[in-house]
Amino acid sequence: MRVLITGGAGRVGRPLCEHFARKGWDVRVIDLAPESSIAGVQYAQCDILDFDALSKQMAGCDAVAHLAAIPSTLTHPNATLFSVNVSGTCNVFEAAARAGVKRIAQASSINALGGYWGCDDRQFDYFPLDENHRLHSTDAYSFSKQLVEEIAALLPSARRHQQRFISLPRRLER
Ligand SMILES: NC(=O)c1ccc[n+]([C@@H]2O[C@H](COP(=O)([O-])OP(=O)(O)OC[C@H]3O[C@@H](n4cnc5c(N)ncnc54)[C@H](O)[C@@H]3O)[C@@H](O)[C@H]2O)c1
Repeated sequence: MRVLITGGAGRVGRPLCEHFARKGWDVRVIDLAPESSIAGVQYAQCDILDFDALSKQMAGCDAVAHLAAIPSTLTHPNATLFSVNVSGTCNVFEAAARAGVKRIAQASSINALGGYWGCDDRQFDYFPLDENHRLHSTDAYSFSKQLVEEIAALLPSARRHQQRFISLPRRLER
């Protein structure tokens, strides 16, 4: 199994890389930094907004764990966050479809339902939450995570190539 992990040098990515490497998988990691110290993986500097570079990294992979994102509204302008999270995710699914990669697990967020970054005092309709809970967002990050779930479900190339995906933690999948 050769798996591509986008954003693999981040907080979630590093332990995931180690976990996959321990399973004996061939792990390819892309992230923004020129180098990485993650043991047991093949690392490349690659911006997911660069479709050609991303497509080269996608070639030969069996699956993708898509983690690359700007995970906070505090560090970047909304337009930058939106571009990386939404356009970047389009690129990941599109490049995977063209490379014949049919399995993608992506990090969505509980924020797709509203929550921490929101600017209103919203209560959830019920608890514990599940994937049937209605969507709600009042900030760029939460909205971007709603859209990445839509991209996974609706992107024409992904549907045409019958990609299977899961968007965690809501577990929306095909
Ligand atoms: N950590 C959490 O509690 C949490 C909760 C919910 C969802 N998530 C989601 O999980 C994923 C990983 O989160 P994290 O906490 O590890 O964040 P992180 O910021 O530690 O890791 C994200 C990684 O993506 C990389 N990245 C950013 N822009 C990129 C680009 N254009 N091209 C390639 N790489 C790029 C960053 O360099 C970073 O290493 C994100 O999608 C985030 O939205 C995280």
